[in-house]
Amino acid sequence: MEISQKKPTYGLEDLESVLLSETQIANRVSELAKEILSHYGDRDITIICVLSGAIVFTSDLIRNLKLPTRLDCLRSDSYGSSTKPNDPPRISSPLKNDIENRHVLLVDDILDTGNTLSELIEHLGQSKPASLRTCVLLDKKERRQLKIKADYVGFNVPDAFVVGYGLDFAEHYRSLPCIGVLKPEFQKGSYFQC
Ligand code: IMP
Ligand code: MG
Repeated sequence: MEISQKKPTYGLEDLESVLLSETQIANRVSELAKEILSHYGDRDITIICVLSGAIVFTSDLIRNLKLPTRLDCLRSDSYGSSTKPNDPPRISSPLKNDIENRHVLLVDDILDTGNTLSELIEHLGQSKPASLRTCVLLDKKERRQLKIKADYVGFNVPDAFVVGYGLDFAEHYRSLPCIGVLKPEFQKGSYFQC
């Protein structure tokens, strides 16, 4: 007898549920930009986007910020092709611009265990920025392993593997306009199954 196995479409059909719609995200990004603006005033800031997950969020955020901004990127890989993080995360891609004495805003997609953000903060701190703040679109507090908080948080999310709006599973789903929970059958090595 043939066992039928569903194949992923890499589209909205692979989601178990939508947590955050395109409109909810857009509204919150605009609010976050106002919060950031009220802190920095008209100071010149350097935004550092953590590749690849934060690329969509960062591009919307900078277009909502009416501030003079420099943009730079760092790469941090923690998941590879599974939904369990590597330990410790790998930081690669050096910055293009010198951040010494500059106001830096580090932007990531999601704060999960906290390992990535704390590693990046330590790494960037060595370059002696004038200030260093952090902004994450999503905060998955339940899974935190380190005592770390972001200065700006878009949404708190439950302990589930989410994709879309830049967040991926094995490099798929980044271009979905919303954020949702991936169906368990499309996750391999998921922490749901451990
Ligand atoms: P942390 O080091 O555990 O805090 O993980 C942070 C990084 O893991 C984020 O920058 C994401 O790239 C990735 N990550 C954590 N949770 C998820 C998720 O639910 N979906 C997709 N990527 C995630
Ligand atoms: Mg990431």
